[in-house]
Amino acid sequence: MTTHLLAIDQGTTSSRAILFRPDTSIVAQAQQEFPQHFPASGWVEHEAEDLWRTTLATCRAVMEQAGLTAADIAAIGITNQRETTVVWDRKTGAAIHRAIVWQDRRTADLCARLRSEGHEPLVSERTGLILDPYFSGTKIGWILDHVPGARARAERGELAFGTVDSWLLWKLTGGQVHATDATNAARTLLFNIHTGAWDDDLLALLRVPRSMLPEVKDCAADYGTTQPEVFGGAIAIGGIAGDQQAATVGQACFQPGMIKSTYGTGCFALLNTGPTAVMSQNRLLTTIAYQLGGKRTYALEGSIFVAGAAVQWLRDGLGILKNSAESEALAEAADPAQQVYLVPAFVGLGAPHWNPDVRGAMFGLTRNSGPAEFCLAALESVCYQTADLIAAMNADWARSGAPGHRTPVLRVDGGMVASNFAMQRLSDLLAAPVDRPVIRETTALGAAYLAGYHAHIMPAPGRFADSWRLDHRFDPVMPAETRETKLAGWRDAVRRLTLP
Ligand code: G3P
Repeated sequence: MTTHLLAIDQGTTSSRAILFRPDTSIVAQAQQEFPQHFPASGWVEHEAEDLWRTTLATCRAVMEQAGLTAADIAAIGITNQRETTVVWDRKTGAAIHRAIVWQDRRTADLCARLRSEGHEPLVSERTGLILDPYFSGTKIGWILDHVPGARARAERGELAFGTVDSWLLWKLTGGQVHATDATNAARTLLFNIHTGAWDDDLLALLRVPRSMLPEVKDCAADYGTTQPEVFGGAIAIGGIAGDQQAATVGQACFQPGMIKSTYGTGCFALLNTGPTAVMSQNRLLTTIAYQLGGKRTYALEGSIFVAGAAVQWLRDGLGILKNSAESEALAEAADPAQQVYLVPAFVGLGAPHWNPDVRGAMFGLTRNSGPAEFCLAALESVCYQTADLIAAMNADWARSGAPGHRTPVLRVDGGMVASNFAMQRLSDLLAAPVDRPVIRETTALGAAYLAGYHAHIMPAPGRFADSWRLDHRFDPVMPAETRETKLAGWRDAVRRLTLP
């Protein structure tokens, strides 16, 4: 029976595959990490072949675990780390440079120059983004300028650009399909989010030949079929969305005013603003939440570059944790009298500060500070950063005139939400309820849903939303005075770090 849905979730540190039934239950899952490359300070790269190899291996592993063949799978949905940039040769299908990862800061100078030349208002107005090295556009230009002969080859139409979804789609279809979806396109600095088309002025500004670009489609659409030899039979590919947008779908945040926050390597909060592209006055991004039936739904996004990565740093960098799960008990053991703050600006600061040059720091250390206080500071840094985003979102929402009611509830997902302690602290520092769903694999679920919706085996968004189930609501219990003191300490730490 062709009733299963295969979700590919290609993330920053690992590739995952999850097999769902149309009732959203999980049949099998697999995950593989791959090497991270840091060739210079602030540079982050992936081998594009590693992204493909681990994706393929995890997909095959889940099919084997579940005892399914290609004929049992109705459709594939792809979701991916966004902005990460791959340029490949159309003939050989080989990447001409390692993928430049979203966290990579190498184009900070170019962004600063473009800003000083006064280009940011145009870029923001058309793309909803800001001139920051985070996005794909300047990374493409860097590859074209640094790989010998690449610019000339691109101009002759020999090279293709893609975010990771496009790259995997190209590989899955054996080079038959070069496409992406509107949510991934919206992260390139090259896509006009109001007209839904690549923008010639921006292509000229960032010197990217149009011939390199993929076709842009809805999130639930016909993306072709896999080459039969990939999975022993052709499977339709019916859904694509960037991972944060897929999580928004998986969390069923379909109503304007609903908000979700995903805690992976980074943390990304998206507030659905419906058909209105709300332009932020507080340095948030305006982006496409999803595009279905040719209709775009917009979101305000707050992007934090380091969330789970702070806990990874405690584990791999400082060696004070054996595994991430230990962080909860260690943080709980911290001395509450100490006010230790970690500003985890390991790759600069994202929203609402957008400072690519600043680097991380700790404040408030005393002779008594130890692993427990470091651990608490890392977990709290994620909460404080979320609080900054939500404050900015509330301010933007209040003046936006967007339809709908702004719910105070935050729906959360991602690895870190397994920690009751971290989620309680998040609710305390936000002074708002935090809802954790039963299905925490919301990113993969969103991708599976898009593919299943396209294949007509999943219901329309309204009915899918009815299947969202609450696991636990965390309500704030921290006294207001304590919260205010802690938030003031955080703001002071960020201010001191970012002083010119
Ligand atoms: O914008 C970057 C984001 O898509 C990466 O997500 O889950 O790998 O932290 P994640």
